Amino acid sequence: MASEVPTETYAEVYNRSLTDPEGFWADQAAGIPWIVAPETILDKDQNGVWRWFSDGVLNSCYVALDQHVVAGRGDQPALIYDSPVTGEVQHFTYAQLLEKTSIIAGGLVNLGVGKGDVVVIYMPMVPETVAAMLACARIGAIHSVVFGGFAPSELAMRIDDANPRVVLAASCGIEVDRVIAYQPLLNDAIDLAEHKPDHVVMLQRQQCEATLSMPRDIDWQTWEREASPVDCVPVSATDPLYVLYTSGTTGKPKGIVRDNGGHAVALNYSMRAVYGVGVGDVYWAASDVGWVVGHSYIVYGPLFAGCTTVLYEGKPVKTPDAGAFWRVLAEHKVKSFFVAPTAFRAMRKEDPDCQLLQKYDISNLEYQFVAGERLDPPTYHWLKEHLHVPVIDHWWQTETGWSICANMAGIELLEPKAGSCSLPAPGWDLRVLDAHGQEVGPNQEGAIVIKAPLPPSAFPTVWNDHQRFEDSYWSEYPGFYLTGDGGYRDEDGYVFVMGRTDDVINVAGHRLSTGRIEEVVAEHSAIAECAVVGIADAEKGQVPVGLLLMKDGVNLDPQVLQAELVQAVRNAVGPIANFKRALVVARLPKTRSGKILRQVIRKMIDGERYIVPSTIDDPAIVDELHETLSSQGWIK
Ligand code: COA
Ligand code: AMP
Repeated sequence: MASEVPTETYAEVYNRSLTDPEGFWADQAAGIPWIVAPETILDKDQNGVWRWFSDGVLNSCYVALDQHVVAGRGDQPALIYDSPVTGEVQHFTYAQLLEKTSIIAGGLVNLGVGKGDVVVIYMPMVPETVAAMLACARIGAIHSVVFGGFAPSELAMRIDDANPRVVLAASCGIEVDRVIAYQPLLNDAIDLAEHKPDHVVMLQRQQCEATLSMPRDIDWQTWEREASPVDCVPVSATDPLYVLYTSGTTGKPKGIVRDNGGHAVALNYSMRAVYGVGVGDVYWAASDVGWVVGHSYIVYGPLFAGCTTVLYEGKPVKTPDAGAFWRVLAEHKVKSFFVAPTAFRAMRKEDPDCQLLQKYDISNLEYQFVAGERLDPPTYHWLKEHLHVPVIDHWWQTETGWSICANMAGIELLEPKAGSCSLPAPGWDLRVLDAHGQEVGPNQEGAIVIKAPLPPSAFPTVWNDHQRFEDSYWSEYPGFYLTGDGGYRDEDGYVFVMGRTDDVINVAGHRLSTGRIEEVVAEHSAIAECAVVGIADAEKGQVPVGLLLMKDGVNLDPQVLQAELVQAVRNAVGPIANFKRALVVARLPKTRSGKILRQVIRKMIDGERYIVPSTIDDPAIVDELHETLSSQGWIK
């Protein structure tokens, strides 16, 4: 079905959202089937944080599934599971997905899970994962999905912070042609964790059957068979829907909390306003349910809006080739497609002239969206040349749940600019500040911040650690949310996000903390000190590398040391860290207070101009390091 015809310009909509936020979001809230419609649109909670729709009552699973069945759309496809790694394509109508979800919800209730309990989901891209998330929402439980590429200790940290009663898991994930058994990883994680879940419900996949340890482990199929469907539990708009852990500056991940009401309103709005889709349209976000993109735009957003969502268990290349995405777009008649630029870089490497696209009819595609990392101009131009549809870079974060900046396809498509994520989305009062908190002028770089109140869906706290929420995000510029990204606005107000200003890096669209990798490297018995920085990489965007100081008297072949560290990071963080290179150096440049100058190191390796701060302890170390890096071929 065609989306609504826009009647206002972007500027009109944006201005209204800032001058009358309550009126603006009350209008958007009218599109949600509330159990009790909110009368209070915006107020502050006990922590002094702005909250949306605090007296509203709803159920997010009802918004995603039941409302469409009730409206007579039960036979419309809700989810298409397309798995080149298993050779399966399955279609689920809204009625079928509702039935499956209600039964899984019943299974959770049978295990004693209720409103406010946490359920960890450690599962690959299979339909049961989507139904499991929605089943939690249905009974007011809080899901916390952990991405399959994380190692056991990362999973253990999340289990210890989230304290789940139950873990829902699958026996394996499939990485192209490699079967990754999940059960050993999960067992290791539970052994490492102090908190022990009561039960693990294991979905047995035929590629790798797990051996269940009774009575903790439960077979998924039997569990589903024995469960009866249950109805939706009313929850408050401000009750948590999920906790999703993301990397921060320190090694400990932050549990980003998402509420029910603001999330439903903002995501439903975004489908129409940002992505230009509505009921019956096919929408595909080629991400993973373990990331926020998967939460917002594989599961909740498209289903809230009555679209058909595609769940793709494959890669852009090798499953079977660089034409995989074009096949899915053609076969399922996708209208709006969202993917990380790194995926296109992988495809462009294998098929530079995009010849495989000739085999497919992707004429249903109207918009190409990218996010997760900066859309580099060469990839933008490659997409423009081959796709013949608007290529829209939009910028957002786990913390926000939806776009901070976008070219709003459903409102008014503005002239795009390569390298820019266009203009702020409605509700986001964006500023670029210097170190003193003053707004900078056009084309001047600074910290990108958002003036409170943030629009609906933005996180209200960090799970179990509200102080961290205040300290990490709100203390540097009081009254402004610190995004952690730096960049500038040009003379037309277009926003250019240039990269993180903290120790977070973005590796193949995966957000990682260099601090966490440093912790692992520093644990090696030969290492006295180390610095891990994210350097530019043509395919992955960024990759972490380590500079190492060995302990006195240790005599270890640097190649052996590098191999041991690479393995240690794989074991502790996971393969997605892509940590492959480490170099032994004599000294590391530091400030007089002992802080390693990581920015200087990174820029030196990337061949960028760097400024040595006046606080440096010994300037000679910078030249010495430059020489070492240069002699080892490390400088680009
Ligand atoms: N489970 C287990 N292992 C996983 C995994 C998972 N879910 N995902 C990735 N890995 C492994 C890979 O197999 C690889 O292992 P290897 O070192 O043994 O070869 C390693 O982690 C590195 O993975 P990655 O850097 O992702 O490379 P890739 O070749 O597997 O995939 C892309 C490349 C571009 C397809 C992939 O990085 C991608 O889809 N990125 C986008 C992420 C995203 O959607 N982010 C959200 C913002 S839109
Ligand atoms: P995540 O929370 O995993 O979604 O990662 C969010 C981070 O990814 C942001 O803070 C940015 O650093 C980066 N990011 C996401 N989208 C973009 C984009 N369109 N342009 C530049 N950086 C982006």
